[in-house]
Amino acid sequence: MERIKQHAIWGHKGTFVLAATGSAVGLGNIWKFPYITGENGGGAFVLMYLVFIAMIGVPVMIAEVVLGRHGRANPVDSVRKMAQQSRVSPHWNLIGALGVLTAFLILSFYSVVAGWALDYMSTAVQGGFSGWNGESASAAFDALLADPTRLMLWQTVFIGLTVLVVAFGVTRGLETAVRVLMPLLFVLLLLLLGYAVVAGDFAQGLHFMFDFNVSDLSWQGASIALGHAFFTLSLAMGAIMAYGSYMPGKASIGKMVLTVAVLDTLVALVAGLAMFPIVFATPGISPGDGPGLMFVSLPVAFGSMPGGVVFGAAFFVLVTLAAWSSTISLLEPCVAYITERFGLKRYTANGLIAGSAWLLGIGSVLSFNHWADFTGLFGMNVFGFLDFVTQRVMLPLGGLAMALFVGWVARRELLRHELRQESERQFELWLTLLKYLCPPALLLILIGGFWA
Ligand code: PFF
Ligand code: NA
Repeated sequence: MERIKQHAIWGHKGTFVLAATGSAVGLGNIWKFPYITGENGGGAFVLMYLVFIAMIGVPVMIAEVVLGRHGRANPVDSVRKMAQQSRVSPHWNLIGALGVLTAFLILSFYSVVAGWALDYMSTAVQGGFSGWNGESASAAFDALLADPTRLMLWQTVFIGLTVLVVAFGVTRGLETAVRVLMPLLFVLLLLLLGYAVVAGDFAQGLHFMFDFNVSDLSWQGASIALGHAFFTLSLAMGAIMAYGSYMPGKASIGKMVLTVAVLDTLVALVAGLAMFPIVFATPGISPGDGPGLMFVSLPVAFGSMPGGVVFGAAFFVLVTLAAWSSTISLLEPCVAYITERFGLKRYTANGLIAGSAWLLGIGSVLSFNHWADFTGLFGMNVFGFLDFVTQRVMLPLGGLAMALFVGWVARRELLRHELRQESERQFELWLTLLKYLCPPALLLILIGGFWA
């Protein structure tokens, strides 16, 4: 109820695009996309990623917004309403519950990585990057990971920031953040891109990201690319459904979803194009370096470019803000669900969930130091395992359930009503992709990922 009132205050047409873009654009684009592209060989991976965004991500995102706007409630109740009006079991609402659980798990380790950005922000402000090269940058990153106290400090600060916004309500703050700071982040990325063109090995970066051999396409790469397509668009977690539930009835869902998907993809591609040329021009770092890629390559660039102190500080501030608008959208559906389902007060639910995510996050913190040798979770440490189950298992599974439910189970008239701004042909194209392409593709990649 409370959230619906807040939305009424925002009340203008673009709210969904702003909020959904704030949720979508985050660490997934700037931190994760470049490093998993690097780990999975470049071009072939990028191609699969782009195809999955367009052919699977966009149709599923439309389905999620349709559910939300039709239900006008929290994710669990929105799905239940569609199920009831389609005269099928209300238990389809498990889709919503699965999403809330996934959101909670992601929140726990996402906050740890956002904490790294905070740490780098403080280094940048103190002019700390000057003179960094590949080796010293790697050493600095390793030193951060080796220090659990420092990691926990920033993780705690970041979760605190998220709790604050969710406690006071997701109102004007988020809107300003998205309207002003997202474009600023994009401009800064373009500036970095300019620097990469001038000072980096741009040609090699370009080759790496866009050249590919058919033989480079692998099941494992496909599975990672698909999981990331869901992660980056904030799908199958109730976030987009919740934001969709406040969308005015007149707005065209298709157009808005396309806008969000294009913006998200642009940010990811520009981030990659800005980073790889620097990676190739810097001895001591290479594309497959893993989660540290952004934290090693960019400080080297900031350390040697004119105005690097200001740009470096601004960059990490903006990355933190982008991550912040993403974690808000992770925490908010969890809080809404717990409040409505178990009758807890908003403050209590907020504290409880954030506190638990913080506690679980310590497992991720320790994965990089004290528990680095513990690989008891199917050969993975806590951080690796949470990343794996959420991205490779839960997100594709949630997407599969949603595609089946909306494509095959929900009543067609109800869907058509929500998508009445779209032409008959657009509607048919969407429904065909959702019914016939998404489920088998998701299933295949889900299973294929385990084999490879
Ligand atoms: N889409 C965000 C990113 O790319 O960083 C991560 C995310 C936010 C995932 C919110 C899920 C979500 F509900
Ligand atoms: Na994203």
